[in-house]
Order: sequence, then structure tokens, then C-alpha cells
Amino acid sequence: MKLVLKGGRIIDPSQELDIIGDVLVSDGLIAAVGDKIDEPGADVIDARGLIVAPGLVDMHVHLREPGLEAKEDIASGTKAAAAGGFTTVCSMPNTRPVVDSAILVAGMLQQAKEEGTVNVGVIGALSKGQEGRELAEIGDMLLNGAVAISDDGHYVESARLLRTGLEYAMMFGGIVISHAEDETLAGDGFMHEGAVSAMLGLRGRPAVAEDIAVARDILLAEYTGGAIHIAHVSTAGAVECIRAAKKRGVRVTAEATPHHLTLTDAVVIGFNTATKVNPPLRSVEHVEALIAGLKDGTIDAIATDHAPHAFEEKDMEFRYAPSGFAGLETAVGVILTELYHKGKLSINEVIESMSVAPARILGLAAGTLKTGAAADIVVIDLEKEWTVDSKNFYTRGKCTPFEGNTLRGKAVATIVGGRVVMQDGEVK
Ligand code: DOR
Repeated sequence: MKLVLKGGRIIDPSQELDIIGDVLVSDGLIAAVGDKIDEPGADVIDARGLIVAPGLVDMHVHLREPGLEAKEDIASGTKAAAAGGFTTVCSMPNTRPVVDSAILVAGMLQQAKEEGTVNVGVIGALSKGQEGRELAEIGDMLLNGAVAISDDGHYVESARLLRTGLEYAMMFGGIVISHAEDETLAGDGFMHEGAVSAMLGLRGRPAVAEDIAVARDILLAEYTGGAIHIAHVSTAGAVECIRAAKKRGVRVTAEATPHHLTLTDAVVIGFNTATKVNPPLRSVEHVEALIAGLKDGTIDAIATDHAPHAFEEKDMEFRYAPSGFAGLETAVGVILTELYHKGKLSINEVIESMSVAPARILGLAAGTLKTGAAADIVVIDLEKEWTVDSKNFYTRGKCTPFEGNTLRGKAVATIVGGRVVMQDGEVK
């Protein structure tokens, strides 16, 4: 089966490509990229006026399988991914049971093969049951297909456990992803600690809880020589700490989410539970520091932390609602509207941070349009205006702080292994 995407602006930062041209897909692979490719009998997508780029890679999603299917499952989560322009998503292990053994990794990979609309990478837990006491089967999981190790959702409070986790992961060529919030400082808070939390009378999660956690984790990576990736960076202090560590040559990478890059704690006024997330939405100085960090390469990647919950769970008093919300179907629109159209990031930087960088960090065969690579492609309309309506989401987590916002920019086609899985918003 052959497919040609014709006349688009092809942006592939993995080979510093930015040209107007055609992409030929054959037997699921990129067969050629160039000027005027005519292939008789091939299907054609008219990409004139659109961006054609390596499919987006989200290195941080919660697919909620196994065990939490009322919130999401692989089928619904990967449809949401396809709708959002993602061709690969990596699932976090805070499920029931926790994915902390090779057999559970294998089960997820098998289920993803059967039910998944896009590629799924599986992240295994660092500690058994994510309880922070005993190491999980890190080597076994990494040897059997896990793409990284993480206790995401929880901070690894024990420095000793993280140290050994980093050492084990390093032996098997894997990285550890850290949810860096010191729970002894932040654990009982509901939002960012600052003027807004004081006004609302809600206990806060101070920025210093993240700064401390990031600093410790980086020191342990430096000491062991292991690779650490800091998930959902949200504070100016963390950005500064990562920047300094990179200068020293520490093996540290980092991601920021569309919500932390574009929203402040002011949106919590009104107690909308769709604004409750960990780490919390912070004040404007932190948001500006994150954008500066993304711009100068301190923050490598944008990841959604797609964290769907059932509507009934979020529909309760602020302090009792679970943290997190859906992110896969709004990410491109939010990033393009708030960062690209406002001149803060170029489209090449957007593609780098949403596709090339996360693939590189995890060592995935993704994030490229090089000839011979799997034909995982996103087509983006930079100008398409649309209004966020969670009723139309494919995810089960019909909750987003961007509800009702008019956004400019959207993925209009997603191609996975040469198969068109989404076109004009419809997942096939
Ligand atoms: O808000 C959050 N929700 N942050 C996390 O780290 C975990 C996530 C979840 O799993 O719901």
C-alpha cells in the first residue's frame, strides 16, 4: 500500500529538514522525501498549506490499564492520542496492579498490540507496588520491553532506593523518570502555595518542595552516573537546577506539560476541579521560567501527563477531587496557540520538543522522517480555529482546564506505520 502526502511544509528536526515537498510512504515505511514525488496508484493526502512532521511522541501518559478502566483504557487512550496527533505514547505504571514486573509489561504490550490505535511504550515501576520500599524487577522489565522506569505519581522518598534504582537502570541502559515533589512538604496541599492559595484558604504545595526533590535526584544521578529524567517540571528553581546540572555534564533531561507552560494558579479561583493537578499550576514567574527553559534547551520535551479520571470523580469538592486531567487532545492546540502563535517557540522547536526529543530521550525508533523509518507522521494545520469541548473527546477523562477555549492550530491527520488512523478529527 502506498500513500503520498503532497505539497506540505515538511519539518523534521531529526535531519534539520524544513522544505516544501512530498512524502512517499510504502509498506508502512518512509520511502522517500523530496520534491514532486508522483506515484501512480498511491493514495494521496493533499498537504498544501499544512505542516508534515514526524508523529508526535508523548513520553508521559496515564492509560490506566490494567485495573482503572473507568478512567481510561488502552483503546480509548490511544484513540485520544491519534486524535491529538500522537503516534507513540508511553504509559505510566501507577495502575492496579502497578506495572512492576516483566510479565505485566508483556501484558501491556500485548494488549496495546491488540487494542492500540497508536504505538504504546510501557514504563515500569521503580519500586514494587510503587510503595517506595523495595526495588521492582527493573532489569527484567528493561530487558523485556519497558522503555523507562518510574514511580510517577509518587516521589521516591528514600534516597537509597533511588540510588540503587538509578544504578540498576543504568546497567540495562534505561533511564529513571522522577516525579520530583517532596511529599513531606507538599503531601497535604491542594494547589501552589502563594497569594492565590492564601486567598482561597487552601493548603499549598510550595515550589520549594519540587526544587529540593529535583536537586536531590540530580545529585544522585551525578553521583551514580545514571540517567534521570525530571517529569512535569513546574518551578523556576527546578529549571535553574537542571540548567546548572546540564552544564556540569550530568545525565539529566526534563519535560514540561502544556498546562504548566500556559496556565497559572489564578485559574484555580472558582474552585474548578479541572485545574487541580500535581505538581500544581503555579504563578507567572514560574511559567516564564519554564518557557525560557524550553527555549534554551534546559527542558528537552513537552509531555502531556494525560491523567484522565472519571467525570464523577472530578465532580466534587476541590480538596477531595483527584489530581490530573486529560491532555492528549488539547496539547497541540494549546502549544500552538500560546507558544507558537505568540512568537515564543518556532514550529521547528515545537516539533523538536513534542516528537524528536522524547523519542531520543527514551531511545525509541520514532520522531523522524528518515527514509526507511516507520511511517509515523502528523499533519498539522497551524491556522485551524476550534473550540475545546470535552464532550467530543475520545478519552474517557472528560475534564480539562481548557474547556471552552478557542484554540488556533490542530493535528488534522495522524499516520501510524503508514496507516491513516485519524483524518479531520475522526479516528478510524
Ligand atoms: O495530577 C496528577 N495526576 N499528577 C500525577 O503525577 C499523577 C496523575 C494521575 O495518575 O492521576
